[in-house]
Amino acid sequence: MRIDIVSLFPEFVAQCASFGVVGRAVERGLLSIHGTNPRDFAEGNYRRVDDRPFGGGPGMVMLIDPLRRAIQAARAAGEGPARVVYMSPQGRRLDQAAVRRLAAAPRLILLCGRYEGVDERLIRAEVDEEISIGDYVLSGGELAAAVVVDAIARLQDGALNDAESAVQDSFEDGLLDCPHYTRPVEHELGTVPDVLLSGDHARIARWRRMQALGRTAERRPDLLAGRELSREDRALLEAYRAERGRPDTPEGT
Ligand code: ADE
Repeated sequence: MRIDIVSLFPEFVAQCASFGVVGRAVERGLLSIHGTNPRDFAEGNYRRVDDRPFGGGPGMVMLIDPLRRAIQAARAAGEGPARVVYMSPQGRRLDQAAVRRLAAAPRLILLCGRYEGVDERLIRAEVDEEISIGDYVLSGGELAAAVVVDAIARLQDGALNDAESAVQDSFEDGLLDCPHYTRPVEHELGTVPDVLLSGDHARIARWRRMQALGRTAERRPDLLAGRELSREDRALLEAYRAERGRPDTPEGT
């Protein structure tokens, strides 16, 4: 897969992509990442990339033409059609399903804005979708693009080793992860749950599933809303709640 980053700081995303799982995916040739800087396509001595907003107000807006030329250069640099994604707090919120969908595209161009944003006409003409990584405002799209690149790199075949794949799989089914423990068994901060020391793999798997379900219900009930749990999962969730001494009906009902 090829990902082009259109950004005033393309080195930033390239740097993020140089270590860990992403770096390994790049080394293995599973993913290639290329930066294109709109400033290289700006005109005049000052190579301006932004200007004041029409209608007044604070901040600056990124100019159409340097961005458009940068996107076109990125399109031309690779083969086949590319999906252009603008990183923006106005976009659809990124989740694992969106990551899977983006990872299925052979080519992506991630457009990173700075300042107040980019001219709306550029978005209408060149952008296929807008993606937000959460309901907060970053100073630019670069960190968001790095998040997208990381999440996509993990999904490329051969990017993860077996242990890493298992961790990935544990979230792929839409639940939060179970708690983890390592040595020592006894510590002043607490003891490792007995079940994890039992050597009974079926029991351990059940306990982990129960914890994952219970934590998801407690911390992110939205992830379970509208989801039909199997009879076994419902029983595990009830067992979790019973163990915690919590009522199994939501508060106030
Ligand atoms: N650019 C600025 N804030 C952002 C956000 N929350 N998500 C994606 N891109 C952004």
